[in-house]
Amino acid sequence: MTLRFLSLLVVFIAPVSLPAVRASEPITRPPRQSVEVVESRSGIVVSETDEASAAACEILAQGGNAVDAAVTAAFVLAVTWPEAGNLGGGGFMMIAPPEDDVVCVDYRETAPVSVTANSFVGWTDRHHARMAGVPGTVAGLAAAHQRYGILPWKQLVEPAIRFAREGVEVDEFLAWSLNSYLTRERVRTDAQFAEFRRVYGHPDGRKWRAGDRLIQSDLAETLELIAEHGPAAFYEGAIADQIVAEMQRSEGLITREDLQEYKALVKPAVSGRFREFTIYGAPPPSSGGLTVILEMQMVEALELTSSSDRFWTTEQIHLLSEIMRRAFRERAAHLGDQPINTELRDKFSRDRAAELAATIDRQEATSSESIAGEIEISEGSYESPQTTHFSVIDANGMAVSNTYTLEQSYGSRIVVEGAGFLLNNEMGDFNWYPGYTNTQGAIGTEPNQMAPGKRMLSSQSPTIVKQGENVRLITGSPGGRTIINTVFEILVQTLEFNRPLPEAVDGWRFHHQWFPDHLRLESLDDGEARQIAAELEERGHEVRLSTGYRQGSAHSISIDLKTGIATGVADWRRGGSARSVAAVPVTESTAP
Ligand code: DON
Repeated sequence: MTLRFLSLLVVFIAPVSLPAVRASEPITRPPRQSVEVVESRSGIVVSETDEASAAACEILAQGGNAVDAAVTAAFVLAVTWPEAGNLGGGGFMMIAPPEDDVVCVDYRETAPVSVTANSFVGWTDRHHARMAGVPGTVAGLAAAHQRYGILPWKQLVEPAIRFAREGVEVDEFLAWSLNSYLTRERVRTDAQFAEFRRVYGHPDGRKWRAGDRLIQSDLAETLELIAEHGPAAFYEGAIADQIVAEMQRSEGLITREDLQEYKALVKPAVSGRFREFTIYGAPPPSSGGLTVILEMQMVEALELTSSSDRFWTTEQIHLLSEIMRRAFRERAAHLGDQPINTELRDKFSRDRAAELAATIDRQEATSSESIAGEIEISEGSYESPQTTHFSVIDANGMAVSNTYTLEQSYGSRIVVEGAGFLLNNEMGDFNWYPGYTNTQGAIGTEPNQMAPGKRMLSSQSPTIVKQGENVRLITGSPGGRTIINTVFEILVQTLEFNRPLPEAVDGWRFHHQWFPDHLRLESLDDGEARQIAAELEERGHEVRLSTGYRQGSAHSISIDLKTGIATGVADWRRGGSARSVAAVPVTESTAP
């Protein structure tokens, strides 16, 4: 019986489609038409591809728990969502086991041992083997499984092997994604991308079309080695040999010793109270957990005006962007790969949030430069929108919130020869120029400067919210620094305003990150956005309503604690599939 057929058996209802607010301007990437919603008491997986959500749901149906399902989803995404799903990157997996503390598996990449704080001064090429940090994904998934998984490892990797060997049906998204990178000048012509062209190019040399099959035989073999020998195959065995050979060929920095030394770390989550909820986030080297919690505690200190029928009101956007501005300044000043200690806790405490909130003018924008404090501002940095997030809950209420990434789409674009997987370009997340912080968004502060074995600062913000002992919400997103604010806005809508999750995921988003000192609005070009932008400009904000800007892809799950029914919501902005095990019928849409 095929996986697709099996997964259909466990999904009792078709997902409900809700109308989404749509932009009228053309965008290059084909969006889905709406959020996708499923409900269930028996387990839900929401991820970027239907293959990953379905395969992970099947693992739940076979008796696996949320961590087992997450491991399967992550491996399948490495095959079916090659721009961000990965073996050669890293990320953070938040795990809430029933009746136990929430933990974070930190499988962020590390800097190769040969680097110093100045190693990348003057370097400009983001698509080069030198940009790759030591990958953490395989170690991270193995560490999560070793501690919490119940089904055999091999069984969890098997669906990904099948998709790699037998092929993935290319849909509109994948065709668009592959074609748009394969046709870039450098990818088409540069010798170092020959393996990329061989692995991802259409065998007939033409463009990909929906309905084609993408077969990845090298990746299938790599996954078989991982299924058979576990992470040792990747960090010490045959795959390590292939990575080291690739580094020699492409002038990368990762050595055999770097790979042998790599460890995924299981850490306590960072947490903070917000009204009756506890928010759990990823600890450093992610800035996500502490920054989101600081933002939420500023909301509590500030008292937002209550919501009208319209999300968002101009005043709410003003206040929330002032919160974002301040939180991102704290992030730049204090966060890097460091242990949580009292000093750091104080900098992101409830008291500090209240102090920062007290500096917000309810009418007027503050200039970012005026709050720089001890950070010296010099007179750009670009983060492309590629990472991927998924959320899982099982029948026992065990929750997983996982975000992992190659950094930019297709990472460094270096495919390890013969191994069929891409290496990340995550070294770009370090502060490259010690002491150099500019108004364009480059940050040069000390905590995130490069050092051997150190992990680069991340904005990935996989988040779990509990109410009492129970999981209430699971969320996260891709999107570079916007991740933090996408998660923040989902938390504000659901926890502060009790907005149903489908609406919260559907609704439009905005972002401020201290520098550059402008406020980006998702450009829902419907007149209303322009009106809001004009009102914000009157308050002193510089507003960017850029064409086709889409903020994140927040595949999330909320749980109604009265009924025990979980609602999974797949975002509409990129891919997205919400699948459930033994779903209960949804009679009415909760959409506006
Ligand atoms: O870890 C980080 O914060 C970035 N490397 C994430 C990049 C990202 O989210 C790009 N995509 N959506």
